[in-house]
Amino acid sequence: MLSNQIDICRKAFAEYVERKLHSAGKMQDNSFIIENMLLKLHHSMRVCGIAKRISNQETFSDNDKKVSYLCALFHDIGRFDQFIKFKTFLDSKSVNHAEFGYEILVNSDVLEGVDTEIRRIVVNCTRLHNRQNIPDETDPQLRRFVNITRDADKIDILELFCNYHLSRAKIKNEALELDLPDTSGFNSEIVDLIYEKKTISNSLRKNYNDMKLIHLAWVFDLNYRESFRTIKRRRTIERFSEFLPRDTKIAEVITFVHEYVSLKTD
Ligand SMILES: [Fe+2]
Repeated sequence: MLSNQIDICRKAFAEYVERKLHSAGKMQDNSFIIENMLLKLHHSMRVCGIAKRISNQETFSDNDKKVSYLCALFHDIGRFDQFIKFKTFLDSKSVNHAEFGYEILVNSDVLEGVDTEIRRIVVNCTRLHNRQNIPDETDPQLRRFVNITRDADKIDILELFCNYHLSRAKIKNEALELDLPDTSGFNSEIVDLIYEKKTISNSLRKNYNDMKLIHLAWVFDLNYRESFRTIKRRRTIERFSEFLPRDTKIAEVITFVHEYVSLKTD
């Protein structure tokens, strides 16, 4: 794969987002929409950086490093139109943003400059990146790229929420509250599933604490050693735990998650 394909794709992605920002600018409530589209733009760029780091540390060929980068760049392309049309990031109240992104990639010319096989990987990676479980029939080549995209995506969302929890007393973004009440307590079913090292369905979250616990459980879905190292380096679990209820059950489950991450970085 030629380096200029990356440049062409970056340009196509930037132009796509620019067009979406332009249409958002003409809408009512446009500052809320633009703020959240920029949030997804910046997220996408950071996911590219994280995927790049993981692919550099793992045994990826130069070509595969470039493919990883493209998968990261386009994985959330569905988020822009999703927010314009529905003003929410909640797939359950709008569209599945991954399927939506797949349709955008297939029906637009943003991947025009890319080889057919790489295009197949990027579009399918976008389609599969948010699945709770990757389908068994996914071929190993594609699965590798889905895994790296999912890792980089999760790492950045965890970071984004760590920072958001810190600042939300002062500045709230309703789009990141996901319509969840900020009540005390938590769903202990989620804690039980964490001990099973399972990724947990969003349908179990009843309040804002549940969302944080489900985010913690994402570490069980990380694939690459560099991903665990990043979580450790950033002290993500420790920082996250600051925002969870002071409760023995919670303290114990945080220790469990923390030990799992440490084990994976040895
Ligand atoms: Fe994402």
